[in-house]
Amino acid sequence: MMRRPLIAGNWKMNTNRAEAVALAEGVAKGSGEIKNADLLVCPPAIYLESVGKALTGSSVALGAQNMYAKGNGAFTGETSAAMLSDVGAEFVILGHSERRALMGETDAVVNEKTLAALAAGLTPIVCVGELLEEREAGKTGEVIATQFAGSLAGLSAEQLGKIVIAYEPVWAIGTGKVASPEQAEEVHADLRRLLTESYNGEIADKVRILYGGSVKPSNAAELMSQPNVDGALVGGASLKAEDFLGIAAAI
Ligand code: PGA
Repeated sequence: MMRRPLIAGNWKMNTNRAEAVALAEGVAKGSGEIKNADLLVCPPAIYLESVGKALTGSSVALGAQNMYAKGNGAFTGETSAAMLSDVGAEFVILGHSERRALMGETDAVVNEKTLAALAAGLTPIVCVGELLEEREAGKTGEVIATQFAGSLAGLSAEQLGKIVIAYEPVWAIGTGKVASPEQAEEVHADLRRLLTESYNGEIADKVRILYGGSVKPSNAAELMSQPNVDGALVGGASLKAEDFLGIAAAI
């Protein structure tokens, strides 16, 4: 099965409202030229609605960077899946390494959020990835398998078929140190094998596995040419429409 690549921009905690709208407009404007990939932008939650408006009429999808697993209620400061969906988000990034490291998100938390996102009709982009010391200790496979099993526990085959997985080696995020195409492919193939073993080949074939970590227009083609790399989760380079579109155009 041919998986259509997805190029997702993770804007993180960047931009003000005017910049967010201008960036979205720039992506929307250039998106007509992109034939071989789906495009997604994930602005800060507070700008979702403004960015959604700027994307109207384009094929660029809207996503959030996080959510809370519970339904609406007494959870001060949090945002529910229903709220994200209400302002037009279709995707939500979950378990990003910055949230795992800075906000203490565990696999169990990511799992709860993944199930809640699916229940609300959002497409979760579930992130996994090893630390540098884990890679150097030869533990990458083990770490990925643990995160995979914990973050995706209890999903039905049907639910699994709806998610996106992002492999983001922590040492490659925001460091300019990109994984080599071979390093990326090795982990992506491993994730595909885990999908097949835990579910079945048909579902495993459907799930898009994105690579993230210092993706730029200049390294995108090589990474995307790997058989199990189905797109990219882009941080820094997604803050310039030209670079983001350049990555998508490299496929
Ligand atoms: P980067 O971030 O492209 O800036 O390395 C990727 C990410 O954190 O999703």
